[in-house]
Amino acid sequence: MAFPAMMLLGAFLLLNSVSAWAEPSADEGLHVFKSANCVGCHKWSGEGGGGYGGAAANLRRTALSLDQIEHTIRCGRPATGMPHFDPDAYSDGRCYGLKKAQMSAATMPPEPDHYLRPADIDAVAKYVVSHIKGKGPPTFAQCQAFFGDGTRACDVYEKTSDSSGAQAGASAGSAHQHLKIESAPDANAGK
Ligand code: HEC
Repeated sequence: MAFPAMMLLGAFLLLNSVSAWAEPSADEGLHVFKSANCVGCHKWSGEGGGGYGGAAANLRRTALSLDQIEHTIRCGRPATGMPHFDPDAYSDGRCYGLKKAQMSAATMPPEPDHYLRPADIDAVAKYVVSHIKGKGPPTFAQCQAFFGDGTRACDVYEKTSDSSGAQAGASAGSAHQHLKIESAPDANAGK
C-alpha cells in the first residue's frame, strides 16, 4: 500500500520541481545575486557605488526593462566594470554585434568570477526587477530579508529609518507603518 502512495508523491514532487524550474522563484534569483557576486559590486541593496574599482550602477534607480537587464547581465557593458556572465557573449556577435577580435582590453567587459547558465541569468534578472528596481531607499525589513534575521549588518538601516521617520515629522508615520504590517498577513503566508 505504501508503494503506490510513494510513487504518487514522487510524481507530484517531480512535477513541482519542473514548474519551479520553468518559472524561477525569488529565492533562486536571490541565491544567484549572492553567489555570482552581484552583491560584491552592487551591494545587497543594489545601490552600487564606488569602492570596487569603479562605480557599479544603482539598480534601484535603473530605467532598464527586464529584457534590457537580462541583456546587460549576459553581455556586460563594454568599457565599464560590468562583467559578461554569458561565456560566449563576444564569440558570435550576439552582444551589441561585437566580437572579441574587434575589442580591446579597454572595451572588453571583464570576465566574472564564474559564468552563469541562462536559467540563472533569467532568475537574477527577475530578482532585480521584483526586489530592487524602483524600490526607493533600502529599508531594515528588506535588509533582513536579504541577510536573514538576527544579523547585525542591518542595524544601520534600523537607525536610518527611525531618523528619517523623525525628519518627516512623523511619529504618526511609524504608527502608520505598524498598521500596514498588521493589515498584510498574506505577505508572510505566501513565503
Ligand atoms: C565587478 C563588479 C560588478 C559585478 C560583479 C556585477 N556588476 Fe553590474 N555593473 C557594474 C558596473 C560598474 C556597472 C555600471 C556600468 C556603467 O557604468 O554603465 C554595472 C551595471 C549593471 C546594470 C545596468 C544598470 C543600468 O541601469 O544601466 C545591471 C542591470 C547590472 N549591472 C546587474 C548586475 C547583476 C545582476 C550582477 C550579478 C549577476 C552584476 N551586475 C554583477 C559592476 C558589476
